[in-house]
Amino acid sequence: RTVHLIGAPMDYGADRRGVDMGPSAIRYADLADELAAAGVEAVDAGDLLVPRAEERDPGDESAKFLPEIEDLCTRLADEVADAIDGDRTPLVLGGDHAVAIGSMAGCARDADIGAVWFDAHGDFNTPETSPSGNVHGMPLAAALGRGDFANMPWANAAGLREENVVYVGLRTLDEAERDAIRDSDMKAYTMSDIDEDGITEVVEAALDYATDGVDGIHVSFDMDWLDPHEAPGVGTPVRGGATYREAHAALETVAERDRAEDVLRSMDIVEVNPILDESNRTADIAAELAASALGKRIL
Ligand code: ARG
Ligand code: MN
Ligand code: MN
Ligand code: MN
Repeated sequence: RTVHLIGAPMDYGADRRGVDMGPSAIRYADLADELAAAGVEAVDAGDLLVPRAEERDPGDESAKFLPEIEDLCTRLADEVADAIDGDRTPLVLGGDHAVAIGSMAGCARDADIGAVWFDAHGDFNTPETSPSGNVHGMPLAAALGRGDFANMPWANAAGLREENVVYVGLRTLDEAERDAIRDSDMKAYTMSDIDEDGITEVVEAALDYATDGVDGIHVSFDMDWLDPHEAPGVGTPVRGGATYREAHAALETVAERDRAEDVLRSMDIVEVNPILDESNRTADIAAELAASALGKRIL
């Protein structure tokens, strides 16, 4: 398999500067060696060009930097779609989680897809419901064309099927997000489900939902899914997260399913914030986790 690395050094969607340095930090953490150890060929397509946030006006408070995010995500979607067309697996390095709008739009071009969302957060706000106006809290709503996003075709991942979207390990939701998720056809596994059933069983079940009747899946991995003790370098830490071992086990389970059924079309790893990190350890883990998802094994 050939992996097509795309850096998306954007932090327009987050309220703290720093995740724009994520792609550099993850590459610095020996990503290339990790991917080689996974037995994949990696082609690094470099970073997308992202104007500095300071040069821009945040604009509408309900969805800050939305035109800038549209521009980046439109370019990212094209590159992701082209890579998949060329039989490569795009691995998008964020950047804030709004980059997933572009990843999923590209992944869902000419295909029906599911998505597995590893995150502390639901990222299912819309400009109408968001308490922060930060678009990194909205990418799933955008991809599914919810609320205002219905009028923004660039955000819509037409082939993403709501009943094939699955959360793994949710642990914090805004009020309106909770209602919207309950009313949706998405499947949501919370941290409590992991406590009860164990990570492997939960991810197996998530993959059953996500892959049912589609051409493949996108895996979106927010580093704040891990516990802040393990991964302190993220913009919006929430206590009570996945352990280092659970994170590897989760992505090894994805790799195992992919080995058997060829389900993984694309992936992103997002929200690494080197400014808040301790000696790049969050980026180190991100690089290792990418390798686990792409088939690295101990033996
Ligand atoms: N729910 C909060 C918001 O809408 C936090 C979102 C955090 N998202 C993330 N990708 N880290 O602002
Ligand atoms: Mn998050
Ligand atoms: Mn997120
Ligand atoms: Mn390492």
